[in-house]
Amino acid sequence: MDLQALNKVAEAMVAPGRGILAADESTGTIKKRFDAIGVENTEDNRRDYRELMFRSDAMKHYVSGVILFDETIWQNAADGTPLVKLITDAGSIPGIKVDKGAHPMPGFPGETITEGLDGLGERLAKYYERGARFAKWRAVIDIAAGVPTWGAIKANAHALARYAALCQANQIVPIVEPEVLMDGDHDIDRCDTVTRLVLKTTFQELFEQRVALEGMVLKPNMVISGKKNGARAGVQEVAEKTIAALKATVPAAVPGIAYLSGGQSDEEATAHLDAMNKIGGFPWKMTYSYGRALQAAPQKAWAGKKENVAAAQAAFGHRARMNGLASKGEYDAGMEKAA
Ligand code: 13P
Repeated sequence: MDLQALNKVAEAMVAPGRGILAADESTGTIKKRFDAIGVENTEDNRRDYRELMFRSDAMKHYVSGVILFDETIWQNAADGTPLVKLITDAGSIPGIKVDKGAHPMPGFPGETITEGLDGLGERLAKYYERGARFAKWRAVIDIAAGVPTWGAIKANAHALARYAALCQANQIVPIVEPEVLMDGDHDIDRCDTVTRLVLKTTFQELFEQRVALEGMVLKPNMVISGKKNGARAGVQEVAEKTIAALKATVPAAVPGIAYLSGGQSDEEATAHLDAMNKIGGFPWKMTYSYGRALQAAPQKAWAGKKENVAAAQAAFGHRARMNGLASKGEYDAGMEKAA
């Protein structure tokens, strides 16, 4: 393992002004997105949609890296160019989702364990050869009555650490993503408590598995109220509580934090990131690794039609620019209307 090289990639992933495009929706998840815009979920449509983003100008300015799904990393653009080459030509880094999804955890009703460790070393070597320089593994922790349990938190943190160690052994930067869901009706303080326990446990497991923190990127949820909570916390409270939770649990050796959007609205996700960077005073770079909060607008503008490609690229470019500014604390909600 060349830790200096891993660290260089990790630093580039979280470089100020840029962030990560999470375009790694599985075939099932992208079907849900396509259903919403009336697009058939075919291999060609998935390719066309991702190609339009990878060819957009925004890639060169605001997107440090792209997380791909297995199908996409092997796909070629309509003109035969590998999609991976479109990404590197734009000066962005290709990454790959390597987990095999969150599955029901035996003995733990309502909880999941993320699978995909078997044969992972061999898969990582192939992805490296294809150009991937970072990977992603997502653990899912729900909040509900009696959930999460210690057993599920511990098992998911252990799997994240085993994955991260395998990545580094294959010269790939692991994005470690322990996602505490915001789907429930819980308040922000419950999210705070659970997030702290999950992060603390994750870093303990990373330590035990000898993962070099300088060569990874953390992808956490923000500390936020549940979507169904009647009195959701405001932007400043989310920013302050998220920073406080991370300061208490995430070592300073980690180069950067790239948040997931997790179901926040586009503008909420941008405002939260911006507020944290305006507050500052933490040892890490903080940027985005958004899926939905970057892609909802371009998907709507595209709607599967060739004549809409330019409009979709403009919509993607706008969101990427807003989030790029937020990664430096230079965003202002007024910019949304101006555009
Ligand atoms: P969202 O930003 O839509 O939560 O997706 C990011 C991601 O990669 C989840 O694993």
